Amino acid sequence: MNVSPSRKRLHLSTAITSLDHPSIGRSQKRLWWPTLYAASPMFERPRGTNDWGPEDMAKRRFVESRFIQLAESFGFREVSTPTFESLELFTAKSGPAIVRELYAFRDQGGRDLALRPEFTASILRFYVSDLRSRPKPLKLYSTGNVFRYEEPQKGRYREFSQVNAEIIGGAPLASDGEALALGIGTMRAIGLKQVKARIGNIGILRGFLPFPPADQAVVLHSLDKRNFPMLDAELGRLGRPDLARPLRELIELSGDVSVLDKAAKILAGAGSAGFEYLQKIADLLDAYGVSRKDYAFDMGVVRGLDYYTGMVFEIDSPNLGAEKQVGGGGAYNLVEVFGGERIAQTGFALGVDRLVMAAEAEKATEPPRSLDAYVVPIGEGAQRKSIEVLTSLRAAGLAADIDLVGRGPSKNLDYANAIGTRYAVLLGEKELKAGKAALRDMASGVQREVALADLVDAIRSPPVTRGPESAKPKRRAAGTRAARARRR
Ligand code: HAM
Repeated sequence: MNVSPSRKRLHLSTAITSLDHPSIGRSQKRLWWPTLYAASPMFERPRGTNDWGPEDMAKRRFVESRFIQLAESFGFREVSTPTFESLELFTAKSGPAIVRELYAFRDQGGRDLALRPEFTASILRFYVSDLRSRPKPLKLYSTGNVFRYEEPQKGRYREFSQVNAEIIGGAPLASDGEALALGIGTMRAIGLKQVKARIGNIGILRGFLPFPPADQAVVLHSLDKRNFPMLDAELGRLGRPDLARPLRELIELSGDVSVLDKAAKILAGAGSAGFEYLQKIADLLDAYGVSRKDYAFDMGVVRGLDYYTGMVFEIDSPNLGAEKQVGGGGAYNLVEVFGGERIAQTGFALGVDRLVMAAEAEKATEPPRSLDAYVVPIGEGAQRKSIEVLTSLRAAGLAADIDLVGRGPSKNLDYANAIGTRYAVLLGEKELKAGKAALRDMASGVQREVALADLVDAIRSPPVTRGPESAKPKRRAAGTRAARARRR
């Protein structure tokens, strides 16, 4: 996008005004300030979307990377599918009513398309078209943004991110156990202590509802939303008002394995295979080392998406309030809907936005990797050699930056402080001639001379605390007249 010079000035002046505001303390005067993104004088971001600043992105990448590491250690491999798909992919199972919840549009070629509201349908389309001949089971994961036309609130956005895993072609029970272990394990890998999975079986409910799929979907939807007037009306219309009472009793049941017996009694023998299946899931999770405290059986887990067929689950971070549900999934069937064979499919997605909220609430996020070194060339003659030193630091795998503005040493140290680098590498012409650099530990203020050949090791080694021969911290030494005189 071309921004006219006057617009550029407008943005810049807003940024400066915000940074100089007296309510922002000195310690908070970071160069990136998230609230700067909240309002641009020219354009507002679309409703339900977010800008994420560097600090936010560090947290998002942290939770995402924990999922990726664990998924890869479980043998999952990454796949990527388009951000938009043909609209039909999403209406095929859920019917045209789903369009209200999508970002659907017609392109210039007259094609009906939609931004993906999830990964599952796309991955299963990809499986049916291209991946069917691969050895089974296929264990696939994806991460990225998805879009739903929802009423935005805290933790509920129109564009949000998910990490997603699918297992295609495994035995159902083993695959469900593996999916649950990865879902709950991801929460633990992030460092979250408050984890509660609720595990149900929509197959039991489907088996109990003697209706064609479209009517079944309406009844299940009313149960999912706990909309009991709608439930009564639907069951009345379908001529089975007697089912309302057992269904309402059933979905209230939640707790340890003992609820499975209670649930079986309510259904008077129906669904017994489904309850046995859940019992076996508990045994499997024991073997995975998942604590029984981390999950409950909950007959009220119905799920909002229409494709689930068997075990279903949701994972909560209980201290998040209304948007406590951070993930969900279960066994489903889309391959046949998309023209493929009968094959077991199971998977789940965790919402990155809510995982970050949960991690923040439990102070489980890790600080982002800080810059190792900030190189400060002092004087014209030091410029070229400073870039060579910078390049050697980067080549050694260190995170290193350099003055791009041409500031004086004192201003550069202020900048180095603001961006949170561990070391400043001060390179005056005299030091360079002697093959040395002044290495300043920004936390302690200790500054010492280091041979350029030893610079990488010195930066890698633990920080030097004030030693006998190091003078008292020279916070602004590089900028003092004496220091400048010495360098000349
Ligand atoms: P889902 O329950 O619709 O499942 O979404 C999974 C997670 O995405 C939710 O638990 C929540 O954390 C997050 N999420 C959903 N909507 C929003 C929103 N508007 N704003 C922020 N976060 C949101 C699925 O998407 C299934 N495809 C999961 C699956 C994979 N099932 C089988 N395989």
